[in-house]
Amino acid sequence: MSSLKGKVVTKDGIEGEEIPQLEFPFPPVPRPKGKFITFEGGEGSGKSTQLKLLGDFLHQRKINNILTKEPGGTEIGQELRRLLVTGDKDKFDAVAECLLYYADRRIHLTNKVWPALNDGVWVLSDRFADSTVAYQYYGYEKKVSLESLNMLYDVTVGDFKPDLTILFDLDPKVGLERSYKKALGMEVKETRFEDRGLEFHNRLREGYLELAAQDEKRFVVLNANKSIEDLHHEVIRVIAERFKI
Ligand code: TMP
Repeated sequence: MSSLKGKVVTKDGIEGEEIPQLEFPFPPVPRPKGKFITFEGGEGSGKSTQLKLLGDFLHQRKINNILTKEPGGTEIGQELRRLLVTGDKDKFDAVAECLLYYADRRIHLTNKVWPALNDGVWVLSDRFADSTVAYQYYGYEKKVSLESLNMLYDVTVGDFKPDLTILFDLDPKVGLERSYKKALGMEVKETRFEDRGLEFHNRLREGYLELAAQDEKRFVVLNANKSIEDLHHEVIRVIAERFKI
């Protein structure tokens, strides 16, 4: 038995009842009123701290905003996050990772990001789909093809994309050191990707820069090797220029 255009069709070609199907193309993409801003970068680049500071700055300007992240921006996503960022680095491969990251992304978009944007709330996200291309394509030697990643994006995200992506560029040696230091204080160590070694992280950095060069309209690259305060001022400058606030 197969399903054809919403009808159940038996082996003998007999058509049955209409069955409800999800709309295609997925999803019915909203035309949001809020802005969707994503922060990207390798490990320890300081993007999470900068995201919080930007949120506070926007609140001071009376711009309603929420901070979120991938993976783990929703309750279900928190469970996926635990699977993805803890434990043995080889417990599953890049294909399995992509599917899990995209499951997290779909839930994140439908349950949190799109409703907020439709309410006019700005959404600041620590990572989004560029992370999947950077990590699961550029980072790995055994990579997932760009074609497959683009297909996953189309099915999961449609033609929706961030209004702005800030890439925090940093030498991975510096970033990894910071990141392992932070992990010392964690009960469950979220270092599954840190454990892939410097070569992986160098490829990742180059990959991010390539992504930024391919889409100069959406990306702004900042040198993240600065004090928290200096970097925050850079972020504000970028946001003020881009959104005229
Ligand atoms: P975080 O440490 O920035 O919170 O991100 C969690 C880890 O997940 C980080 O090592 C990057 C990795 N990651 C991917 O490999 N692919 C993805 O699509 C995303 C969103 C994150």
